[in-house]
Amino acid sequence: MAIISSKKQPPEPNRQPKQQRESAKAPKAPSQKAPPQENILQPEAAIDEEGKQEESIRPQRFADYIGQQDLKDVLDIAIKAAKSRGEVMDHLLLYGPAGLGKTTMAMILASEMGVNYKITSAPALERPRDIVGLLVNLKPGDVLFVDEIHRLSRMTEEILYPAMEDYRLDITVGKGSSTRIRSIPLSKFTLVGATTRVGALTSPLRDRFGLIQKLRFYEVDEISRIVLRSAELLQTPVNSNGATEIAKRSRGTPRIANRLLKRVRDYAEVKTYTEINETVAAEALQLFQVDPCGLDWTDRKMLRVIIENFNGGPVGLETLAAATGEDTQTIEEVYEPYLMQIGYLSRTPRGRVATKAAYQHMGFKPPNEQLSLL
Ligand SMILES: Nc1ncnc2c1ncn2[C@@H]1O[C@H](COP(=O)(O)OP(=O)(O)OP(=O)(O)O)[C@@H](O)[C@H]1O
Ligand SMILES: [Mg+2]
Repeated sequence: MAIISSKKQPPEPNRQPKQQRESAKAPKAPSQKAPPQENILQPEAAIDEEGKQEESIRPQRFADYIGQQDLKDVLDIAIKAAKSRGEVMDHLLLYGPAGLGKTTMAMILASEMGVNYKITSAPALERPRDIVGLLVNLKPGDVLFVDEIHRLSRMTEEILYPAMEDYRLDITVGKGSSTRIRSIPLSKFTLVGATTRVGALTSPLRDRFGLIQKLRFYEVDEISRIVLRSAELLQTPVNSNGATEIAKRSRGTPRIANRLLKRVRDYAEVKTYTEINETVAAEALQLFQVDPCGLDWTDRKMLRVIIENFNGGPVGLETLAAATGEDTQTIEEVYEPYLMQIGYLSRTPRGRVATKAAYQHMGFKPPNEQLSLL
């Protein structure tokens, strides 16, 4: 195994750094509590100490990878077929929101195939020689994992096309009229690309993947099993109700579940509770302002703005971003997917609309009930 770049890359240009986003937030209403300093519900990986601990609880085999049954079934067949033919597996594109297990699946894939893997991320492949260096060093069957693949530069992408299709590297030599293309054969390899934004991939690149698979948010019982597994590895006593309470607040995302488990563990240790049960988990997570559905300050602010300022919507993305002080990309990639998943927000051609369930969760009367009272 070789980790080429595990460093968190700088944010995209149109994405404001988190601190800037925080400061750009609209002034808070007097009745609302300020958001906690560290947002423990952000699904992005942390770069600190937590990152190292994440490695210790990352599943290593298919059997430990909980949920995503459809994905596992597809990959199981693909692996078995490739192995029986003695071929490499087709290139695989994994997409879905952050923290759902894309990197984990790529690592498991390599270990199930019995091959080595190399991990890199598109922003680390800025110059053509970065990708060339990686490709020529691949051994037969290796898995090359490229994270954030929608961010590849045009040149790098063009080098990848023949490499993916014919395991060939086309290099331009000479200048002017003596320019020639030299082809270098490469070892057969499997490219695994991961992205949170599949729509941002160019179609020639997308078309070169034989398998395109979506990761979905996890069900509460699946997250509960993930919490129990992580708790065992962290040697933290948690009962099943405690695990479910954490799972309900984890936004269907394993990375968030593991992070909440660690915060609850800290709380239980300080308060000298011997076991994490439902009450301990609920008490601890209330302290971190994670509500029973896993909504944080910003989610609630978004719903409140739609309901109070725009009569429940529809409201356009730009307007919503301006009204909440978040940038449009963060709303689209981080907040909306989960709010839509739990049925609190719907996306219509005219904009975002708060659903009846959102009204009820936020303690407002849904619009038709208001009418019936008139
Ligand atoms: N199916 C699963 N079963 C158990 N644990 C999981 C599962 N999927 C993910 N995890 C845990 O969640 C953490 C985050 O997963 P991973 O790094 O694979 O997410 P990702 O989809 O690559 O996120 P990003 O888009 O931010 O790169 C892992 O450390 C792992 O411990
Ligand atoms: Mg990842």
